[in-house]
Amino acid sequence: MEHTLPYSWYSDPEILRREQQRIFRSAWQYAGHLGQLPEPGTFFTGRVGRMPVVVTRARDGELRTFLNVCRHRGFPLAAGGGKRETLQCPYHAWTYGLDGSLRAAPRSDEDPAFRKDELGLVPAAVGAWGPFIFVNAGPDPEPLDDALGSMPAQVAELGLDVDELVPYTRWEAEVEANWKIVCENFLECYHCQTAHPALADVLDVSPEAYALSVEGRLSSQHGPIRESGREKMRLDGELPRSQFHFLWPNLTVNIFPGRPNISIGPVVPLTPERSYRFLDYFFGPDVDQAWIDDLMAFDDQVGREDRVLVEGVQRGVTSGALEHGHLLSWSEQLIGHFQQLTAASLSD
Ligand code: FES
Ligand SMILES: [Fe+2]
Repeated sequence: MEHTLPYSWYSDPEILRREQQRIFRSAWQYAGHLGQLPEPGTFFTGRVGRMPVVVTRARDGELRTFLNVCRHRGFPLAAGGGKRETLQCPYHAWTYGLDGSLRAAPRSDEDPAFRKDELGLVPAAVGAWGPFIFVNAGPDPEPLDDALGSMPAQVAELGLDVDELVPYTRWEAEVEANWKIVCENFLECYHCQTAHPALADVLDVSPEAYALSVEGRLSSQHGPIRESGREKMRLDGELPRSQFHFLWPNLTVNIFPGRPNISIGPVVPLTPERSYRFLDYFFGPDVDQAWIDDLMAFDDQVGREDRVLVEGVQRGVTSGALEHGHLLSWSEQLIGHFQQLTAASLSD
């Protein structure tokens, strides 16, 4: 039986500092979707690990990303999202184009050494898989396709065409738990039978039927529908089974059986004992509202059950009672994989 990571890693600020530097600084992170940039002259803000970013579509139509920190004295210049020609910093009104160039800085002509052309916003890498926009603020990012591994192919093979999807809503929450506890909870369905009765009613979560696989940084769970689940959730439709993907370090992707649907989003560390999550939900263009309402209610229920679990684990692992826990070698193999990748990145 494998040990878990040391429990001290779930509250130690020094560990989080190293995770930010060695893991999140150079990882591709889901930031938002093309529906947030419907036309030239639009932008939205987000964060990559702790790095604030702004994603833009300038007049030339091109997708760009910049660190959302003013080159003058560091104010995060853009907030929210919307449509505008320029981004003006609220502090001293330096004004940038959506292409990142510094357009105007009040009183800059009083300073002969002022080099406007050298003070544009700092760019970051951006890429898309279907409507999903990913950002990488690291120095020399690998191609996004390499990072995504076989996930796009697995999703396509299931019968889901991501290019057809229509954005529906964003769910957001803060959780009183270290980011790794939230990810680890996502990575096993060993708890589903006891903790998610409604989910276990529609998906076959038994070890014989529920398939786990690992490939590079991608961990996948494929759950078939129970016969009894078909009527309960009206799960007849294009998608024959569920797919839950986890792309290390922190991306979760959920597809339920039935009509075309997906939710995607990261687990973002805020402090050693607090995380922020969001999930963007998308549905196929012809999915009826009643089906969407059922799925959202179902997912909300599962989400509330998971919050109680991860916040409980946080209290347990930080209580000082134990040094570490134990992992089942088959049912919790994806957690083992997650912990290996994480520990390897932090070791010297
Ligand atoms: S910090 Fe942005 S204009 Fe001064
Ligand atoms: Fe769960």
